[in-house]
Amino acid sequence: MKKLNVFPEKHRADQREFLTLLEQTAKVHGETFLPSRRSDRPLWGEEFFNLSESEHWKDLDEASQQAVLTVLGQKVLQEAYFIECAGMAYAGKMNLSATTREERQFFSFVGEEEARHLRMIENIGGFQTVTEQIPSFALLIGEIIAETTKPGHLLLIQILLEGWGLNYYKNLAKSATDETVANVFKSIVKDEIRHHSAGVVLFREVTLSSADEKSILSYLERLIAMVKIGPYTVCEEVSKRMPFQDVGEFRRFLQETNAVAVTAGKLEILAQLLYKSLPRTVSDELTRKGTLAPLTLPEMTDTLAQAIPGIAAPA
Ligand SMILES: [Fe+2]
Ligand SMILES: [Fe+2]
Repeated sequence: MKKLNVFPEKHRADQREFLTLLEQTAKVHGETFLPSRRSDRPLWGEEFFNLSESEHWKDLDEASQQAVLTVLGQKVLQEAYFIECAGMAYAGKMNLSATTREERQFFSFVGEEEARHLRMIENIGGFQTVTEQIPSFALLIGEIIAETTKPGHLLLIQILLEGWGLNYYKNLAKSATDETVANVFKSIVKDEIRHHSAGVVLFREVTLSSADEKSILSYLERLIAMVKIGPYTVCEEVSKRMPFQDVGEFRRFLQETNAVAVTAGKLEILAQLLYKSLPRTVSDELTRKGTLAPLTLPEMTDTLAQAIPGIAAPA
């Protein structure tokens, strides 16, 4: 069987007939027109990215600060766009592997909801998404959807990522500077709560084989590593505008932006989501390896400095 393409190409714009039918279908399913954004103001401000207390940030002129915040906001939407795109493929896959009619009904509805989320994000994004720019977090989600089986799907996508996503979307809604954008994320959160809860319920019926456990552990390590590294995108975008003079200044930036504590909070959310559903053997293994333990400030400084070439001159 041909491998599932989680991120297919966009439909050709000149194939109007099909696109018109899609528009009509979206309307029948309750899509309403979203009011356009009121200003060009970045969608999330400096507090959202924990930049307010940083001296390095304060040294940037206002135009550069606005430019960085605008790019960071676009990246948030770009990531959300591809995650919702992956959500449609996920619903399709779970639909096919359903063992009851009710389960199949549920995932048919989920697919419709993910399609709606995608259209809302696309609508507020006002940006051109191109497949070449799929963020690495979304790519990993796509890989999990394409490669794993039902137990891995339920645990990694529905329990962990939808659970994680709803916390993240709640924060995006709370801090958005634009009301339409805030409302979009609020309405998505309502759906994601049900998706996550269904994952918890369905996973209770699953018995994990040792191959499942192995595959889940290896994906967990990769997913957690992406969170554990700290504020990669913020550091990358800030340093593009004004590079850090040396590693010491970069470390101070991480300290002033509270990067270790903020990242530890994110890891704590992941731990809570995982430990309520994971079998003891898998959670013990995670604890033994320290997978969910946060990095220290020097460790985070080194890891990010290695991951983002040229971010700071050596001390
Ligand atoms: Fe969604
Ligand atoms: Fe979802």
